[in-house]
Amino acid sequence: MLSTIRNSRSVFASANRLSKSTGALNRCNSEKARKKDEANYPVRILSGIQPTGAIHLGNYLGAVREWVRYQEIHEDVVWSIVDMHAITAPQDPKELQDNIIKITATLLACGIDPSKSILFQQSSVPMHAELAWVFGSMTTMPRLSQQPQFKEKSEKLKDIPLGLFTYPVLQTADILLYKATHVPVGEDQIQHLQLAQHTAQFFNVKYGNTFPMPEPLINKSSGRIKSLREPAKKMSKSSEYKKSSINLVDPPEVIREYLKKAVTDFTSEVTYDPAERPGVSNLVIIHSILTDKSPQEICDEAQGLNTGQYKLHLADVVIEKLRPIRERYEELVNDPGYLNEVLKSGTDRATEIASSSWSEVKSKIGFSGGILSRTAKEVERKHVTSV
Ligand code: TYM
Repeated sequence: MLSTIRNSRSVFASANRLSKSTGALNRCNSEKARKKDEANYPVRILSGIQPTGAIHLGNYLGAVREWVRYQEIHEDVVWSIVDMHAITAPQDPKELQDNIIKITATLLACGIDPSKSILFQQSSVPMHAELAWVFGSMTTMPRLSQQPQFKEKSEKLKDIPLGLFTYPVLQTADILLYKATHVPVGEDQIQHLQLAQHTAQFFNVKYGNTFPMPEPLINKSSGRIKSLREPAKKMSKSSEYKKSSINLVDPPEVIREYLKKAVTDFTSEVTYDPAERPGVSNLVIIHSILTDKSPQEICDEAQGLNTGQYKLHLADVVIEKLRPIRERYEELVNDPGYLNEVLKSGTDRATEIASSSWSEVKSKIGFSGGILSRTAKEVERKHVTSV
């Protein structure tokens, strides 16, 4: 279905076709702004994932699976393992280091191909932090305090780290440093993307056109996979319930056990009704995305099964669909030398792009090309007048 696309205009059409086949695409910018941007900035697709634990089904269906698809239809794609974001919550250094390697192995096992994508570790490109400082000086505290993820995460904390508050500013820097035009993410990232758009606009008005308006690419059906234990909430690594999410590399018995325990309701039929029956509908949607069938087809096929039987059937499907990823992961994770090579080469390529936008920003805001070049000109002028 996916053909290789080598020019910027067709990626929009392809992104549309792609999203129509998997669910509608959310568009935040007006068509006019998008067209203008399309002319000014080449299409670059970028996204990131935190190395805070294993990749779960929500990350995979909402984001990583889409990244693999975008990698196949566009040549300029950048994926970042955002370890600087990860430390906004306490991390054990050894565990963080292991997680970076494990996430790299999982992303490659999912199909991220270093010959088609740039895959790198955020902290290995220090310009993310430098640009975040610049943007932090242009972002107001009231705007940041409105961010729903900050509100949600800080609610549970007695002492709130500053990094958690400024997290979306760093995310804005991640995106704009690469002049990314499209950002495939799950629905939970929408407000972060809005801040990135606001900052791009603010900077462009103040210093002249520099950044494109980054457009979120959100798959409506897979953009918010729910927790297996609390179907009103998204599936999340930070849930207090152990059996709330399935990791891509979980062994079959764990997948079976967690799905068996998934919260549904007192109706035994399998139907798709996200508002009234969020638990069973979440299972249907996972099933539907993994098999490329519609929720209705899944429910038709499940006629005659009660929800308990359906969960076991779904477990078999999930185990089989994840098997190749798990097997490839096992091979890759035992080759840290190769994984480090992949990250190193990604860092070199990312640094090249980042350096160019960072010098542009520095020059525009008055950090460079100012005092030194003026002094040189003044010296020259003095020399000419004295001759
Ligand atoms: P993170 O690490 O929490 O999640 C990575 C990606 O997975 C998506 N996702 C989900 N999608 C559907 N259903 C779910 N239950 C679910 N849970 C997570 C997320 O939306 C995300 O796309 N702030 C980001 C990381 C980041 C980033 C960036 C993303 C940092 N810089 C620049 C894009 C561009 C985050 O915490 O993702």
